[in-house]
Amino acid sequence: MVQVSKNPVVGCVGCGNMGGAILAGLAQCGEYQLYGHTRSSERMRPLMAKGVKSMADVTSLVRACDVLIIAVKPHQTLAILHDMQESLKPDKLLISVAAGVSRRVLEEGVNGICPVVRAMPNTPALVGAGVFALCMEDPKLTQEHKDLIHTLFGKIGFTRELPESIFPAFSALIGAGPAYVLHLMQALVQAGITLGFPAAESRRLVEALCEGSLRMAQQSPEHFMELRDKVCSPAGLTITGVNHLESMAVNGHIIEAVLEAYARGCAMEK
Ligand SMILES: NC(=O)c1ccc[n+]([C@@H]2O[C@H](COP(=O)([O-])OP(=O)(O)OC[C@H]3O[C@@H](n4cnc5c(N)ncnc54)[C@H](OP(=O)(O)O)[C@@H]3O)[C@@H](O)[C@H]2O)c1
Repeated sequence: MVQVSKNPVVGCVGCGNMGGAILAGLAQCGEYQLYGHTRSSERMRPLMAKGVKSMADVTSLVRACDVLIIAVKPHQTLAILHDMQESLKPDKLLISVAAGVSRRVLEEGVNGICPVVRAMPNTPALVGAGVFALCMEDPKLTQEHKDLIHTLFGKIGFTRELPESIFPAFSALIGAGPAYVLHLMQALVQAGITLGFPAAESRRLVEALCEGSLRMAQQSPEHFMELRDKVCSPAGLTITGVNHLESMAVNGHIIEAVLEAYARGCAMEK
């Protein structure tokens, strides 16, 4: 049985939006030795300032690290796996965050040399508040590996072990989710500006609004709609705004947005 390090060295290939968010989040928790390899040096510079060491090539990164995260675009993933193969050993653990790249493709990509995990994160990992789906169906994964992955990603968010079949749904709802939430937040900021608040003030007010609404919802056993209705006084201004959302079928459009992302995710699955 391959021994799993209790304090693994973590490396990431591809340090863009997602790889950079994971490395920056892990750097903030200060418990891991971290390495990154990416194409452009500008993407590495802010991470190096946080303590991530830059590796000049994939082979050096594989040799130095126990846990290898691949966070390049899905179509670039196989080429990276190919570059890694020569230096991979059975005691490494590979994690891919690429949307649509199946566990089977990953296992073939590493030629069965080491265990693989398919993960789907989201960008709030940057601030330690990500949500991670983990497909840990590779029979080479031991309970120790699984515990290590939950601990690692648990430092920067909330982890859920899920079957691979649910990944397109998770990606459409949660992987893509920050984009929907930020889109709605921006609409509120623009409404504030339209009503005369300076842009920075409108943003600050909307941030506080979202934070407060989330905290209230988290601390309440009531349905979201019951909490919403408590804001709507009879003949008041809120119900007028809510009625407009209803007549424009905003909820239906949000559901459709997620379903369209899901259809695209299913089509990308390989
Ligand atoms: N963004 C998200 O919210 C999100 C959420 C869930 C999953 N994902 C997954 O995360 C992965 C990365 O997405 P992203 O949004 O972070 O893309 P991104 O910002 O474009 O990052 C990809 C990074 O990989 C680098 N790269 C490309 N080819 C490379 C190579 N051969 N060697 C070293 N580095 C290389 C790129 O370098 P350059 O900067 O020089 O191009 C870039 O920095 C994707 O597979 C995606 O499905 C993303």
